[in-house]
Amino acid sequence: MTDHILIERSETAPHVQIIRFNRPEKKNAITRAMYQAMTDALKAADQTPDVRVNVFLGTEGCFSAGNDMADFLAFAMGGSMGREVVDFLIALASARKPVVSGVDGLAIGIGTTIHLHCDLTVASDRSLFKTPFVDLALVPEAASSLIAPRIMGHQRAFALLALGEGFSATQAKEAGLIWQVTTPEAVESETLALAAKLAAKPPEALRIARDLMRGSPEAVLDRIQQEAGHFAAQLKSAEARAAFEAFMKR
Ligand code: COA
Repeated sequence: MTDHILIERSETAPHVQIIRFNRPEKKNAITRAMYQAMTDALKAADQTPDVRVNVFLGTEGCFSAGNDMADFLAFAMGGSMGREVVDFLIALASARKPVVSGVDGLAIGIGTTIHLHCDLTVASDRSLFKTPFVDLALVPEAASSLIAPRIMGHQRAFALLALGEGFSATQAKEAGLIWQVTTPEAVESETLALAAKLAAKPPEALRIARDLMRGSPEAVLDRIQQEAGHFAAQLKSAEARAAFEAFMKR
């Protein structure tokens, strides 16, 4: 159990489950316990007819700064990564209910790649999407090496995932990573309004439409595993360890 992930129901739309990052003092960096809590929530939603839509939200000015660097460093020093990250990615890629996200501010690493699995994302105009994987001597994850080139073309995906360029909300929208740009004040209400609209649709028709559009998840699940193998190997590299140590000591 962790209170760094809050599972709530929308006050205005009771069929909407909100999964909220709640670790603002660490920029909503995601620990193993947080991944586990999110996996449990997605799986519970799949089993609960009363939940029709999942929503990811962060806190004011920060969606998430990505994986917890202390966990990366612990693994680089010989500890176990555990199953939590990959289990979460699998649960996300195979979620049966629509997933909507709302971003205000920082969206780093998995804080960006999570949206490749979302059906609709709203972001504030001060948001920043960035994946410094290669700078940290790591590789893209969450099947981003497969999905990002598909939706935005090779060069833009390469700029995001390999060059480590930050995308503004407008660039993210142009790239097809997100659906809508709004003000920081309106992010939550507009995200929840979209989720409520979806939750009011006939669930079976929505499910079939979504499944048809997403296609079989097999290639995505395979890529998650393939990337995870490279990611784990790179985490143990001297360059990655140096990058994590530099972050922790700064
Ligand atoms: N893991 C663990 N802790 C993190 C973190 C992460 N990914 N990102 C931020 N934090 C912590 C900082 O260590 C700091 O904690 P402290 O106050 O106890 O020292 C706190 O969150 C605030 O971060 P800070 O760096 O002071 O805020 P900032 O506004 O100057 O910068 C970021 C924010 C996100 C740009 C910067 O923290 C950063 O680059 N984080 C790492 C992002 C990253 O590379 N993620 C992994 C991607 S694969």
